[in-house]
Amino acid sequence: MRKHIVAGNWKMNNGLIQTESLIAELKQQSKTSDAEVMIAPTFTNLWHAFQSTKQTEIEVIAQNMHFAENGAYTGEISAGMLSSLGIKTVILGHSERRAYFNETDESLAKKVDAALANNMRIIFCFGEELADRKAGNEESVVGDQIKNALFHLDPDAFTHIVLAYEPVWAIGTGETASPEQAQDMHAFIRKTLADKYGAEVADSVSILYGGSVKPNNAKEIFSKPDVDGGLIGGASLKAEDFYAIVNAF
Ligand code: G3P
Repeated sequence: MRKHIVAGNWKMNNGLIQTESLIAELKQQSKTSDAEVMIAPTFTNLWHAFQSTKQTEIEVIAQNMHFAENGAYTGEISAGMLSSLGIKTVILGHSERRAYFNETDESLAKKVDAALANNMRIIFCFGEELADRKAGNEESVVGDQIKNALFHLDPDAFTHIVLAYEPVWAIGTGETASPEQAQDMHAFIRKTLADKYGAEVADSVSILYGGSVKPNNAKEIFSKPDVDGGLIGGASLKAEDFYAIVNAF
C-alpha cells in the first residue's frame, strides 16, 4: 500500500521566532487522515524544529543538501550533517533550485546517491515549464528528468524515494494543474517506472503533486488514483490551511 504524504516546503520563510510559533500552531491541529506529515523549514531552523516536534506526528525534513560528504563547499550542507541532526528525509531537485542554482540532472543524480548512502529518504522533484506543456513536450521533459537522475538506481533504492511532480507553471501562481492533468502525468510517471523496474516497484512509490495546492482543491486532486499526496508551498505557512490539506484524503 502506498503511503499518503503531505509535506510543507517552507522555502526561504520564517526565522526562529516565526518557526516556533508556526510549529506551536501546527501542534494544535488534529490529523484525521492517514497522511504522513512533514515540514521543511530552512537550514537555520532545522535543529530547533526537530527538537520542537519530537513526540509529534510531524517529521522535520530538509529542503536541499550537497552531494559531497564534506570539504571546500562554502555555504553548503551535507547529508551527514543533516543525519547528525536526526533529519531523515530531504527534498531534492526542486524547480527553484534547478532555475536559480544550476541544479542539473547530473548533479541531482550525485545528490540522490549521497542521500541514499546516508540512508535518507528523498522527495525528488521534477516538472515541466509552461512552454514545454504548450509545445506538448511535458511527458518527454518529465520522463527525462526522472530517467537522468534516478534510473541508474537499483530497484530496492525506490523504498527510499518519493516522487513529486511540480509543474513549474503551477508553483506559486495560483494556477493549479487540474485534477485530470495531475492524474494524467502521475499515471505517465508510474508507467515510466513500471517499464523500467516492473509494476511492483512502480505501484509502491508515492507520487506527490505540488503547485498551488490549497484547502479548496486538495480533496479533488488527492482523490485521483495515482496522486498520493502533495508538496505544499504557500499553504504550508498557515497551520489551519496546511492541516486542511493534510486531512483532504
Ligand atoms: O515545493 C512545493 C512548492 O513548489 C509549491 O508551492 O506555493 O504553489 O504551493 P505552492
